[in-house]
Amino acid sequence: MQADIVVLPGDGIGPEVMREAVRVLQAVADLAGHQFSFRESLIGGVAITETGNPLPQETVDACLAADGVLLAAVGGPAGKAVPGVEAVRPEQGLLGLRRELNAYANLRPVHVYPQLVDASPLREEYVTGVDLVIVRELTGGLYFGARKEAGPDLADETVAYDTMAYRAHEIERIARVAFRLATGRSGKVISVDKANVLASSRLWRRVVERTAAEYVDVEVESMLVDAAAMYLLRCPRTFDVLLTANLFGDILADEASMLAGSLAMLPSASLSDDGPGLFEPVHGSAPDLAGKGVANPVGMILSSAMLLRHGLGLQAEAAAVEAAIDRVLEDGWRTEDLDGSGRNAVGTEELGDRIAEALNREWNTRQEGVK
Ligand code: IPM
Ligand code: MG
Repeated sequence: MQADIVVLPGDGIGPEVMREAVRVLQAVADLAGHQFSFRESLIGGVAITETGNPLPQETVDACLAADGVLLAAVGGPAGKAVPGVEAVRPEQGLLGLRRELNAYANLRPVHVYPQLVDASPLREEYVTGVDLVIVRELTGGLYFGARKEAGPDLADETVAYDTMAYRAHEIERIARVAFRLATGRSGKVISVDKANVLASSRLWRRVVERTAAEYVDVEVESMLVDAAAMYLLRCPRTFDVLLTANLFGDILADEASMLAGSLAMLPSASLSDDGPGLFEPVHGSAPDLAGKGVANPVGMILSSAMLLRHGLGLQAEAAAVEAAIDRVLEDGWRTEDLDGSGRNAVGTEELGDRIAEALNREWNTRQEGVK
């Protein structure tokens, strides 16, 4: 197959982890006989530095025309903050791109590798066997509602606000994504809201429950977000598909990453109904690690596996990349975020090397199995 992939390395450790993901995708192409073209574009802090705009129109156009978009991380130097005006920030690039692509369905799988149970701050008996997916609404809610920035002068009456608004159709379409996903899994969806306080959450709950009636094999339970935050630690295996709004999903995903041992382990896919998907790790640009070659590239590489699966429909290739990561972790390779002792850790590039090598072996063994 031929596929055009836009690559957005962004800021901080972004370029370092992206390099490994592109290398793995290129290895997939070579092994499986595909042709992937990679086109690099600007987003975030680097885009502000070079063009003054966190999301140049050229980037938007390239993304809209691509078969899939890989993004590493944004969060670098922001524009000058002027009180009363929202400063130009790297994050606006990412939010704008999600919106331009209409990538409303954000899937964040949290898989606890048995090899890594001791990397989690939680006890082994809690995290063993956790395998859940957060389905986060990504283009609405508090992130995109009406907002007022505080004015330059701080007085007692100075007000700033953000608005959490949801339309029924926005809730329904994301609920359908969760229900379809659950159909191929345990059939159980936990929908997380704050219906005891928020009107938008009460609408959320009504629409989710109404839509659920169409999915006979799916069972839905609604849960308040504060309780969900607690249950995610107390009994994380209760969760299979967790459906939630934009801000709640943002927070719960970082919390859930601790089950897996490191924020850097989590990939994500942000999908629309028609255009290209956006594939990015859940972690940020980690400026403190940038340039040191120590960042964990696994979440980024797993995101490229999600691009193969959800963006290009290449199931076998995606599974081979995931199996290669599994193998490398099984063999004991770790970046420093996963290595409690800090003594045996390898760098970003070496872990990428190991994964690419393991991919070779995985693919060849699988091909022999097919013959
Ligand atoms: C994420 C990030 C982003 C978000 C930031 C960088 C805008 O935290 O993808 O989880 O809040 O969605
Ligand atoms: Mg986040």
